Amino acid sequence: MQRVPFYVAGRPVDGAETLVVRHPYDGREVGRTSHADPEQVDTALAAAAAVADRAAALPAHVRAAALDHVSRRLAERAEEVARLITAESGKPIRWARVEVSRAVATFRWGAEEARRWSGEVQRLDTEPSGEGRVALVRRVPRGPVLGITPFNFPLNLVAHKVAPALAVGAPIVVKPAPATPLTALLLGELLAEVTEPAGSGGGPPAGTGGGLPAGMFSVLPVPNERAAELVRDPRLPVVSFTGSGPVGADIRRSAPDKHVTLELGGNAAAVVCADWAADDDFQRAAERIATFGNYQAGQSCIAVQRVFVHEWLLDGFLPRLVAAVAALRTGDPTDDATDVGPLIDESAARRVERWVDEAVAAGATVELGGRREGTTFAPTVLTGVPPDSRVRTEEVFGPVLVVAPVPDDAAAFAAVNDSAYGLQAGVFTHSLQTAFAAYRALQVGGVIVGDVPSYRADQMPYGGVKGSGVGREGLRSAMEDYTESRVMVLTGIDL
Ligand code: SIN
Repeated sequence: MQRVPFYVAGRPVDGAETLVVRHPYDGREVGRTSHADPEQVDTALAAAAAVADRAAALPAHVRAAALDHVSRRLAERAEEVARLITAESGKPIRWARVEVSRAVATFRWGAEEARRWSGEVQRLDTEPSGEGRVALVRRVPRGPVLGITPFNFPLNLVAHKVAPALAVGAPIVVKPAPATPLTALLLGELLAEVTEPAGSGGGPPAGTGGGLPAGMFSVLPVPNERAAELVRDPRLPVVSFTGSGPVGADIRRSAPDKHVTLELGGNAAAVVCADWAADDDFQRAAERIATFGNYQAGQSCIAVQRVFVHEWLLDGFLPRLVAAVAALRTGDPTDDATDVGPLIDESAARRVERWVDEAVAAGATVELGGRREGTTFAPTVLTGVPPDSRVRTEEVFGPVLVVAPVPDDAAAFAAVNDSAYGLQAGVFTHSLQTAFAAYRALQVGGVIVGDVPSYRADQMPYGGVKGSGVGREGLRSAMEDYTESRVMVLTGIDL
């Protein structure tokens, strides 16, 4: 198989060491690329640093046109991109299509925000000493960004690093997950289409409406063991990482002087409140929890993992939930009808199996599932799980739901908060009072009322508290994160 190039300072290049990408479902080879060697990494970082001032001064129309271009090209190539996501990540094709359409919107939002990104005028004559003065407050890039991205959304979580960087005029170096580099490289191909040709000296490529300087982006497949050299490099003062808690903690420790955003894991909870008791209510909650506990085999930081149900609803609700989970189709992710595909690799599936077995040995009941076959783990519902079981306290990142009764709302919210994580929570209630009580009480980055915690709109702030990380993504939030404010005070001006 031919090796797909990676991108160093906007140009496609090849490395010496081959990286073979395999389908998580059946292990077949789906593509290959190569690792960037230390010299190629150095070239990319030097180019990012060298272009930073020019990038920050790029006109808004150039940044917006590049982002619009990527959005449009992703839409044009949507089916091909979705199939690539499925091939390298094992995500069922129906969810891969959703991911592509979200990435189309993420880049489109980036373009819109780039056009709006103006700063503000602040009046200073609120005190006698400020008479005749006004302040212009704008945000300027902190510098080139290192984006380290995970395997579970190989396109849209790369988009969430790249789009805001381009929108504010910050160069970005992406290190994609070793299991899923090909989608990020396809994104590199689209960005290269709006990058100045070599030796052009600055004009936009014909027909694109804008041109990014060559050093503006690099996509570097680098093994995880070499990621530390990127994290420590002073030419990348901003690090935006999405991935596991232990790696996030390492990054924080090893780059104390950098601006670091960490989107880490979670063990997201859904609460079924006492007023969510009608037949339709049960059905909706059961179907949504079943779907979003198991979409992409539970490999989402906001997949439902813990379900807290009012105790007098549990007997009616549990059979609905089990039936809804049993109705999901598990199998080949390339099949349109498949709901649940494989985990990213066999060791991930074995870990889930181990944690479920541990819970069962400690007294949990398997209501459904609990079996592994190769890289696939059957959608599983557990009850009677002791509070200190790992399927409850840790992030399972697998298709496992842990259901527990609670006596009232306050106990439910306390149970949600009884976690080292705090990313998002879902609260099934019709009551505005309960919704606001949840919003006040829950220690999370987002409360989703009337639905599962897995709901995410790409423009809204997204991130967690406690072990779920620091900082927020979502276009505007990430743009703020990649920049710092700079004030200019004008004297002798009356507004
Ligand atoms: C994540 O796994 O953190 C991303 C979830 C999403 O974007 O839907």
